[in-house]
Amino acid sequence: MIINNSLIEQMPFPCFIINDDYCILDMSISAAQRFPTSNTFLDLIHYSHQTELQEFLNSSQETNFIELKMTTNNNLVVFMQVYKLISHDGLIHLFCIPNEKYSDEIYNLLNSVRSKITDINSELVSNKQKFAEIKEAAILSDQLSTIGQLAAGIAHEIRNPLTTVKGFIQLIKPHLAEIGKEEYATIALDEISRANDIIYEFLNAAKPKKNNKQMIDVNKLVKDTLILYESEAILRNLEIDTSYNCENGMVYIDSKRIKQVLVNLIKNAIEAIEENHKNEHGRILIKTEIADKKAVIFIQDNGIGMEDEIVEQLFTPFFSTKETGTGIGLSVCKKIIEQHGGKIIVTSQPNLGTTFEIQLPLYEN
Ligand SMILES: Nc1ncnc2c1ncn2[C@@H]1O[C@H](COP(=O)(O)OP(=O)(O)OP(=O)(O)O)[C@@H](O)[C@H]1O
Ligand SMILES: [Mg+2]
Repeated sequence: MIINNSLIEQMPFPCFIINDDYCILDMSISAAQRFPTSNTFLDLIHYSHQTELQEFLNSSQETNFIELKMTTNNNLVVFMQVYKLISHDGLIHLFCIPNEKYSDEIYNLLNSVRSKITDINSELVSNKQKFAEIKEAAILSDQLSTIGQLAAGIAHEIRNPLTTVKGFIQLIKPHLAEIGKEEYATIALDEISRANDIIYEFLNAAKPKKNNKQMIDVNKLVKDTLILYESEAILRNLEIDTSYNCENGMVYIDSKRIKQVLVNLIKNAIEAIEENHKNEHGRILIKTEIADKKAVIFIQDNGIGMEDEIVEQLFTPFFSTKETGTGIGLSVCKKIIEQHGGKIIVTSQPNLGTTFEIQLPLYEN
């Protein structure tokens, strides 16, 4: 994918991605222009500083940077500040910043990073459209797993370069503060976090999961989830009521994933209440019961509610009416519940509220 190459390769300062054995796996164009071709990063370091580099890379401490002599293309020895960042897959990202006055360069760098982030975001937007089309096709051909595979592929491609850019912006943030432009970094970091959230959701939905299923009492599951919301409810001045009518309702589930569903639904309920400005008494009712060999969990809110046209589109990936919503929450919920042999049903009335009903098969010996 283009993003991957363009982001790492076009970093305005020399940037290298290496593995534990110092092998160079990728580098920015500016690195290729400035340094001789080599398979190993160690060769680019002046012999008098090689041990220091090894110690720096081996130290588990978050040493910010190290100053090293490096040998350039035309055999000049230059001092560079070398920053390190370990990405989630264990690769080492090294940023080599020339040790000189560089506020002009930071300006240029910033502009370039901002345009890269714009690229990422427009790539995400265009993927959003692609996803909608693919979802249509997938429904027709009954191959919903295509979406999962595609999501995993995209997430994989975007995540690594995002780590690079994020790390880099964090590193230059203090310098931006010096020239009074710290907010640029903040905006860029916020955008990256948002992109990361989207990718995280995708990965979560798309990754093939180990079987983490266990027997659990539905009431306990709900109680455990609600602990997360006790303080939030007070903070937002809303009431969360419960009604447990599901004595010994045992289900065989991956409780982490079902909790993820409940969390998504409660989050939506809170947001729907906040949107319903007419309603000063926000209330969420969580009810459990047993019906037809099924354990049922209801999540009812007195929020803004929905028109029928909205209800019809609820589970489409990326469908969102919120300014900052990703529209992934409910499509992920549906997938999880279906993977458990269950069902999710919605009823809603504009301005009155919404009820989500989750049905899960009861565990039988
Ligand atoms: N309880 C609710 N009351 C009213 N509308 C809701 C409710 N739950 C979901 N919706 C509608 O469904 C849409 C999709 O919800 P979904 O959770 O998938 O995405 P989102 O909340 O917009 O974004 P996010 O990915 O951050 O969850 C919402 O934008 C909202 O319009
Ligand atoms: Mg949501």
